[in-house]
Amino acid sequence: MVNGQRFPRDEWTNVTPTVLSKINRKLHLQPQNPISIIRQLIESNFQDFQKFNNHSPIVTTKQNFDDLFIPKDHPSRTKSDNYYFNKDVVLRAHTSAHQIQGLMSGSRKFLVSGDVYRRDEIDASHYPVFHQIEGVFYTDNDIQQLGTELKQLQEDKKTTNIQLVDDTVIKPENPYQTCHQPEAVDLIATHLKHSINSMIRNIFADEPNLKVRWIDAYFPFTSPSWEVEIEYKGEWLEVLGCGVVNQKIMNQAHLDDKIGWAFGMGLERLAMVLFGIPDIRLFWTEDERFINQFEPGKINKFMPFSKYPPCIKDISFWISENKWHENDFCELVRGVAGDLVETVELIDDFTHPKTNRRSLCYRINYRSMDRNVTNEEINIIQENVRNTVRDEFNVELR
Ligand code: PHE
Repeated sequence: MVNGQRFPRDEWTNVTPTVLSKINRKLHLQPQNPISIIRQLIESNFQDFQKFNNHSPIVTTKQNFDDLFIPKDHPSRTKSDNYYFNKDVVLRAHTSAHQIQGLMSGSRKFLVSGDVYRRDEIDASHYPVFHQIEGVFYTDNDIQQLGTELKQLQEDKKTTNIQLVDDTVIKPENPYQTCHQPEAVDLIATHLKHSINSMIRNIFADEPNLKVRWIDAYFPFTSPSWEVEIEYKGEWLEVLGCGVVNQKIMNQAHLDDKIGWAFGMGLERLAMVLFGIPDIRLFWTEDERFINQFEPGKINKFMPFSKYPPCIKDISFWISENKWHENDFCELVRGVAGDLVETVELIDDFTHPKTNRRSLCYRINYRSMDRNVTNEEINIIQENVRNTVRDEFNVELR
């Protein structure tokens, strides 16, 4: 039983409890998670697109493969690459599994985001679950209509931070579909490229020297097809795949007289680069020290935190005059404890009703970035903090 559904097992079944435990996490919908922040940043570039963010990751093999003309014997269908419930049901391996569904929904432009699943190698940038966002746009297959759509994009002429390398030309190795008029494809391809380039420009608005390159690619569900790579700090990152939608897919969705484009991009790689997150597993951690670093709508650099346990000590004292500067106190603690102090937090502030004296209690969280600390060594430091506070701030320790 998974989410109320039952799937008979067969020789294809290879889903594991670990991978199934991820399907309800929906990181792309947790407002503070960097995956969701990136999703929203991308969505903000496609204002008038309909957003589908809640499709179940459990799809049919028809949706994931057949509808997209992925050949029966293609390696991407194998058990060793996917998580199957049985021969007909699989955890989606890409958001393209929802293309037909979106095309049938009646909306001319839409985005689909979600968790996708692939069995893969294990390292700092691979995890069996990651997230993608798919974009699909179509319009009348009519030169004049296509021209109008393109004009509406109004390529922004302002000086830009990106250096664009695109020497792709449509050629027999990456061809027009025979059913299409080349002029129509040229227009829809230009529309696709403008849409994507302007999105990348916005996502990396703060990056001074960005290189973006377009290269030819192959997907059974688009033709011509391309991949886009971004050079970031000297490394080329593959960020998305895209192309002109295979007309047979349009026709399956009863859109025979339309022409469209689609792209699919991974969110983890972008989020790792933009937030400076060194390990893909961090997106999944339930440690508050991760998630509390982020706010919706904001990209800030991740601050690594320690994997070693804390040692917590409280200190309380009566202050003599009513002036108290917390920053001076923190400075003093740091002076005594150095980098072993992680946080200092006021946990009690109390004024005695008779004497009018004020008592404060601070909680000091000691932790090392690279080893376990012992209670004995922290006791010595804490004693030192107590004595120094007493001497320097003229307080009465409790
Ligand atoms: N689904 C493809 C992938 O996961 C990306 C893609 C989407 C390519 C849409 C073309 C069009 O790699």
